[in-house]
Amino acid sequence: MSPRTVLVTGGAGFIGMHVVPMLLEKGYHVRILDNMFRGDRDKVGELVATGKVELIDQDVRYGGAVHQAMKGCESVIHLAAVSINKSVADPFESVDINMVGNHNVFAAAADHGVRRLVFASSASVYGDPKKLPMHEDDELSPLTPYCIAKRSGEDLLGFYQRTKGLSWVALRFFNVYGPGQKTTAYYTSVINHFVNRLRNGLPPVIDGKGEQSMDFIHVHDIAASVVAALESEGDNVPVNIGTGIDTSIADLAKILINAVGVDVEPQFNPRDVLVSRRAADITRAKEVLGWEPTITVEDGMTDLIRNGG
Ligand SMILES: NC(=O)c1ccc[n+]([C@@H]2O[C@H](COP(=O)([O-])OP(=O)(O)OC[C@H]3O[C@@H](n4cnc5c(N)ncnc54)[C@H](O)[C@@H]3O)[C@@H](O)[C@H]2O)c1
Repeated sequence: MSPRTVLVTGGAGFIGMHVVPMLLEKGYHVRILDNMFRGDRDKVGELVATGKVELIDQDVRYGGAVHQAMKGCESVIHLAAVSINKSVADPFESVDINMVGNHNVFAAAADHGVRRLVFASSASVYGDPKKLPMHEDDELSPLTPYCIAKRSGEDLLGFYQRTKGLSWVALRFFNVYGPGQKTTAYYTSVINHFVNRLRNGLPPVIDGKGEQSMDFIHVHDIAASVVAALESEGDNVPVNIGTGIDTSIADLAKILINAVGVDVEPQFNPRDVLVSRRAADITRAKEVLGWEPTITVEDGMTDLIRNGG
C-alpha cells in the first residue's frame, strides 16, 4: 500500500517544521504547499531530500493551485496564514490570504472528499476573555482581521461539513513558543526582549505589576495536537490547545532569569497598564483528541534558552 499523503499548507513555517517530521515518523507522505514568504528553505530542502516530502511553491490565494495540490491527498493540515500584526497593518492582504485562502483550501478539500481537515485556528477568536479558563463554548469576540478570519474559518468548516460531509477539527492554539520561532513573533516577542537584556546582565523591565498573562504552549506539544487531530475519532469541533496555566509576565521574567542564570531582579515601572489574561480550558482536547501537554513552561523555556530548543 502506498503511504497516505497529507497536504500541509504553510508547512514550511515555524509550526509546520515541527509537524512535518512527526507526520513522517508516523509513515505519512507529506506535500507542503507554501509560498515561502516566511518558510525555511534550508529545512524544507533537507526534508525534500528524504523523498518523503514534496514542496509545492504556491499560494493559497490561488484556488486552481490549491485544487491541483489537493489531488491524491487523503487529509489536509491548513497552517498557511499571515500574522495578527500584519493583518492590522494590511487588512486587504490579510483578508485575501486568511479568508479567501481558507475558503480555497476548505472548498478543495470538500471537493476532493478528504478524510479529515485540521485547521490552525487561534485563541485570539475569544478577544479579551471575560473569565478564565477560556472554554470553547465561551462568547467569541475576534478583534482584528486575523482573528475574524480564524473565526469565519471555523464557521466555513461547518458549512462544508453540512453541505459536503467534510470532517474537520479546528485547533485554537494559545501562545506558541519553541525552537525555530522567528524573533518577530507577536506574542512571544516579550521572551526575546527579556532574554536579550538578561544576556547583557540587565534586569527585565516590566510595565505595571506584570499581571498580564499568557498560556505558553511548546511547539512540540502543538505539533502532537495537530497529529492527534488528524487521527482522532471525534471531529467537527473547535478545540483549545494550551497548557491550561496562565503565566504572568512577572512569572515569566523569573523563569527566564533562572534559565539564563543571572543574579538580577525584575524592575517594575509603576504605571497603569491594561491587564489581559489567558488560560485555556483543555478538557475538550483530552476528551476529543486524547491530547495533553507534556512540557511545562519552566522546562520548555529553559531548554530553549540553554540548548536552543
Ligand atoms: N505561532 C503561534 O503562536 C500561533 C498561535 C495561534 C495560531 N497560529 C496559527 O498557526 C499557523 C502556523 O503558524 P506559524 O507560527 O507556523 O506561522 P509562520 O508564519 O511561521 O508559518 C506560516 C507559513 O505559511 C506560509 N504562507 C503565508 N502566506 C501564504 C500564502 N498566501 N500561501 C501559501 N503559504 C503561505 C508562510 O510562508 C509560512 O511558511 C497559522 O495559521 C497561525 O495563524 C499560530
